[in-house]
Amino acid sequence: MHCCGLSVAGWEPGRATARVPLRPSLLAEIRATPQSTPSRRRPHSLVMTDADAEKKAAGAESEPAKRSKKKQKKDDAWRPEGRRDPIALLESLSEEKQQEIQTALHLFSLGASLPKTMSEAKKRTYRFWETQPVPKFGDAITADGPVAGDGACVRKEPYSLPQGFSWDTLDLSSPSTLSELCALLNENYLEEDDNTFRLSFCAEYLRWTLQPPDWLAHCHCAVRVNSNQKLVGFIAGVPADIRIYETQKRVVQVKFLCVHKKLRLKRMTPVLIRELARRARQQGFLQAVYTAGVVLPTPLSSCSYWHRPLNLRKLLEVNYPGLRVKMNLQRALKLNRLPEATKTPGLRPAAKADVERIHSLVQTNLCKFHLRPVLSVQDVEHLLLPRDNVVDTYVVEGPDGTVTDVVSFYSVWSKVLNHPVHSGLREAHLLYVVSTATDQVELMEDALVLAKSKGNDIFCALDVMDNTTFLEQLKFSISDRSLHYYLYNWMCPNMSPDKVGLVLPN
Ligand SMILES: CC(C)(COP(=O)(O)OP(=O)(O)OC[C@H]1O[C@@H](n2cnc3c(N)ncnc32)[C@H](O)[C@@H]1OP(=O)(O)O)[C@@H](O)C(=O)NCCC(=O)NCCS
Repeated sequence: MHCCGLSVAGWEPGRATARVPLRPSLLAEIRATPQSTPSRRRPHSLVMTDADAEKKAAGAESEPAKRSKKKQKKDDAWRPEGRRDPIALLESLSEEKQQEIQTALHLFSLGASLPKTMSEAKKRTYRFWETQPVPKFGDAITADGPVAGDGACVRKEPYSLPQGFSWDTLDLSSPSTLSELCALLNENYLEEDDNTFRLSFCAEYLRWTLQPPDWLAHCHCAVRVNSNQKLVGFIAGVPADIRIYETQKRVVQVKFLCVHKKLRLKRMTPVLIRELARRARQQGFLQAVYTAGVVLPTPLSSCSYWHRPLNLRKLLEVNYPGLRVKMNLQRALKLNRLPEATKTPGLRPAAKADVERIHSLVQTNLCKFHLRPVLSVQDVEHLLLPRDNVVDTYVVEGPDGTVTDVVSFYSVWSKVLNHPVHSGLREAHLLYVVSTATDQVELMEDALVLAKSKGNDIFCALDVMDNTTFLEQLKFSISDRSLHYYLYNWMCPNMSPDKVGLVLPN
């Protein structure tokens, strides 16, 4: 029998009336994809398509039946071919052709992409999000509080998955599990719309962002294919204390929502989110905080990314998205030139002995903001102490030995896809800058110099906290990318970016 693709009922348990099996060819393709080979081309023999299955079933036919089929085939030769399995068709094309098609689809916006602006979002129906405890667009919010009740009754059993898949809990203290997660993310995580860049994470980065003090393996939810245990879906919840206006809450920060490319648009996301919410509630977390570049119901705050080129020539060569240079190259290079060395006396990398002082500086500064993390000394040690190729923190030590200022940024790699010269690009992202003795613009300029010396090509910052006080002066330019902040099961008035004191590295 010819099975169609996955339906909504197959992945979204709330709606399921009957379990709809996966199209067999799709499962076969996922099973056949070697874990570590990036190439999407595979020999046909590995792919069990629906057409193959039909051919097999027809194998027992009699000779006359075969002859009459042959004749029929000849007679039908003029007829247009029936619809071929689109995935099989795509697979038969060269890697280059596949990339071209994907780029064209993005350019012509034929993909089912989510809205990036509020006006587009208001015209859209969110079948899943409308069932979730989040504020609706246009809700008049009069008081702060949970959207749904206290969740006294937590579902005991995991949400059901379509046949052939099962839940797993990833223990990231196991190096092999960590590298499996790297492989999933590095092949399937965020790409630029025109398919030219893809984020790429190393194991140390994942350890940093997913395993802070008190991390919970239970909230690292994964979906695997039963037959070969291949990882095809992931979502993480990381415990944190945050303050939202006057309320302090223990929440999970949601990170790394990712669905394997071949299982996209099949409603796996709602199941991942529901399952994470269930597991989090089991652990007593009723709220979550998360960010996304797309508009969902309903942003608490919408912030913009700003970019400061560190290696302009390379950024132009790779056609870095959103980089607008309105002058000739020589002038632009001159304009973006940075000093060779830092200028602030006493600036040095942070060390373990500085942790308590950094904690005090950062926490005091954060008090100004309506949404902010409540960090323990252990959190600061984990989040801000320098780690090679992941996070850099510098402090300024005054003549009397007191630490007066701190600046911190993390770095992420992006793979540059299909470029003849460049294979990677490194982005520094500002975490926190707090100054009590040094001019903040000067401190940030030093941070740019240091980020460049660490091999970063660009420095990115959000217009959160007090960042707008130095962005323009230091030649950051606003990009067309936004980052929206969301709360799950919490309602409160929305806030401008300068009231946001939380940065959530992926
Ligand atoms: C984001 C991603 C998981 C969505 O998967 P998908 O196959 O396109 O979507 P699905 O069919 O599984 O689910 C669709 C539902 O998920 C929601 N959804 C999609 N992306 C979402 C996101 N980033 N955050 C929350 N919900 C999201 C959609 O709004 C939709 O629900 P709706 O009917 O209420 O609108 C997938 O595109 C992916 O892995 N992308 C690369 C990594 C990435 O961008 N992660 C998100 C970082 S914020």
